[in-house]
Amino acid sequence: MSGATSADVDVFGLGAEHEQVVFCNDPATGLKAIVAIHSTALGPALGGTRFYPYASTNDALVDALNLSRGMSYKAALAGLDLGGGKAVIIGDPTRLKSESLLRAYGRFVQSLNGRYFTACDVGTYSEDMDHIARECDFVTGRTVAHGGAGDSSVLTAYGVFQGMRAAAEQVWGEPTLAGRTVGVAGVGKVGRHLVRHLIEDGASVVVTDVHAPSVESVRAAYPQVVAVASTDELVASELDVYAPCALGGAISDEVLEVLSAKIVCGAANNQLAHPGIEKQLEERGILYAPDYCVNSGGLIQVADELEGFSFERAQQRATGIFDTTRRVFALARADGVPPAIAADRLAERRMREVGRLRGFYLR
Ligand SMILES: NC(=O)c1ccc[n+]([C@@H]2O[C@H](COP(=O)([O-])OP(=O)(O)OC[C@H]3O[C@@H](n4cnc5c(N)ncnc54)[C@H](O)[C@@H]3O)[C@@H](O)[C@H]2O)c1
Repeated sequence: MSGATSADVDVFGLGAEHEQVVFCNDPATGLKAIVAIHSTALGPALGGTRFYPYASTNDALVDALNLSRGMSYKAALAGLDLGGGKAVIIGDPTRLKSESLLRAYGRFVQSLNGRYFTACDVGTYSEDMDHIARECDFVTGRTVAHGGAGDSSVLTAYGVFQGMRAAAEQVWGEPTLAGRTVGVAGVGKVGRHLVRHLIEDGASVVVTDVHAPSVESVRAAYPQVVAVASTDELVASELDVYAPCALGGAISDEVLEVLSAKIVCGAANNQLAHPGIEKQLEERGILYAPDYCVNSGGLIQVADELEGFSFERAQQRATGIFDTTRRVFALARADGVPPAIAADRLAERRMREVGRLRGFYLR
């Protein structure tokens, strides 16, 4: 038996804000998973399982800690009675994923007894959730055939569109994108639904994607959509709104230098490339609709599944993203801070004020 050696990973330091971090190990199936529970102040922690070939355990841990913290804020701002959690499974899903691994993972999630609910994320799909659910009661995002909410990108796109309408109202006085030019970077699951909402609202749409078939399928459905070769070309073109719908870090110093858009509002998580850039956006006169505020439609969709999924009820709740985005802008004006800071303040206030009520004794 080889003994453990001390390493420079300080879990308690990295996760100083977190309630619980669980390491799950099953050598027979190759399962190596980390579940990070940031907060259960508002309810059980909910967040997807990311299945990804991390270069190191440390990278996986840092991702789980950051993502779970983000989920606490997203759920709080969306008005859900849920806390923030996230899980990562370390490895290449195309090689490692199996029924037995997923079911082993399900048994670990079950052992948390409802403190953490899992769902889909990068590298996991509704079918995987069905496998996990065979061992575990705390799973959402299952297939429609198994009573699940199905593809969460439908309401994610709808919510982003609602947030964009609120931003348009703030900048141009009317909650519509009619007559505006919107650049959508990434027309995958969310981006292509967003294009539909924009076209229906009367916007001109410019798209780009590294995956050519995705662009072709959008252009086949909407021939009036203009395609450009790269995100660099998109951000440098004449835009009223820029909607990052691909990867994180979309708003960098380089992008800010060339961006003509007056609004940034898209689905991608963690759009701001570094702290402080929210202030630069404001100085450049660009209104930023905070990512986790406007992209919470998918979380709303899978959270609804916990009550027995109703698309109408979930959509109604996602319509509320319009009002929530307005509240963020109003607080930003009142406090004299960028919207990204205002969103954090609203989420923290709700965690504090509503979370406190759970300390009341009820028989
Ligand atoms: N699906 C959801 O419900 C949901 C919810 C909240 C947030 N998000 C976030 O929204 C974003 C999009 O999610 P999705 O589910 O549509 O993912 P997806 O993988 O279906 O789509 C992403 C698209 O971006 C393209 N892309 C990747 N790199 C690119 C680049 N450098 N330039 C241009 N295009 C590029 C991909 O080819 C793909 O078509 C992600 O950041 C995701 O984390 C998604």
